Amino acid sequence: MAVARHQGRPWGWFFWLLWMVSAAAAAWDLASLRCNFGSFCECDFRPDLPGLECDLAQHLAGQHLARALIVKLLRAFVQDPAPSKPLVLSLHGWTGTGKSYVSSLLAHYLFQGGLRSRHVHHFSPIIHFPHPSHIERYKKDLKSWVQGNLTACGRSLFLFDEMDKMPPGLMEVLRPFLGPSWVVYGTNYRKAIFIFISNTGGEQINQVTLDAWLFRREREEISLRELEPAISRAVLDNPLHGFWHSGIMEEHLLDALVPFLPLQRHHVRHCVLNELAQLGLEPQEEVVEAVLDSLTFFPENKQLFSSNGCKTVASRITFFL
Ligand SMILES: *[C@@H]1O[C@H](CO)[C@@H](O)[C@H](O)[C@H]1NC(C)=O
Repeated sequence: MAVARHQGRPWGWFFWLLWMVSAAAAAWDLASLRCNFGSFCECDFRPDLPGLECDLAQHLAGQHLARALIVKLLRAFVQDPAPSKPLVLSLHGWTGTGKSYVSSLLAHYLFQGGLRSRHVHHFSPIIHFPHPSHIERYKKDLKSWVQGNLTACGRSLFLFDEMDKMPPGLMEVLRPFLGPSWVVYGTNYRKAIFIFISNTGGEQINQVTLDAWLFRREREEISLRELEPAISRAVLDNPLHGFWHSGIMEEHLLDALVPFLPLQRHHVRHCVLNELAQLGLEPQEEVVEAVLDSLTFFPENKQLFSSNGCKTVASRITFFL
């Protein structure tokens, strides 16, 4: 297009070229400036861990385990100039407990441009892999996307949503990328981050949290050790989960199973207040109470945990304003 338009006007060409060259130089200059002053300069990977920690502490309601685990693993991984394997996290928990929220925060505090960064790749089965009969093509595509993107930038983030709706067999193409041995043609595939999200294990996490409440234990006393075996079993027993027979669990390629606990009324209140602040509104007690009263809670006889966590809070607020 540009060629055709400039054909009859040699000067136009010249100025266009000049513009391109100076734009490129300016971009290069900016990038190299940042690289000289920052300790990290890989693609647009600009980890801000204090920022992440602060945001998690302020805005992630009721998830002491997820918060501590993610910050700890991420710090170790990011500060290691030569990681021995990619960072692989699998997030588990009931609807609306903060799994997607946490992954968007990760993208935001790790990459300039956040979820819109060229190096953050988000896959959802409904959008990217809707037809189980096309599995062979999906496998080929996914493998070449991951490989291609990691060749372009070793610091890439791959996010897989709704792992319990992936076409069976697809995730096994990822297995070679998740382990320690994958260095090909000088490309370092060990600096990537993979995040998998599903509700699988949510019921088991809810049960442990309910039991703790019934025994009058502090929620913050619930430990990873109590939850991990139950989540692990739930994933291994679920033929609909993308890890089914993929070898990923069996070969211990996950760095952590990250549990998200079900949310109580006061946690959802926290979400409502966050949301109001986001909208730039003062917290009005009538609105907060109206939103909370409109939610459903379980189990039936205890009315303890929000059925949809904080998921519907935003849309409810606009309704009650
Ligand atoms: C990177 O991944 C995206 C999907 O997120 C894909 O469309 C693109 O082709 C990939 N790039 C390369 C170089 O493979």
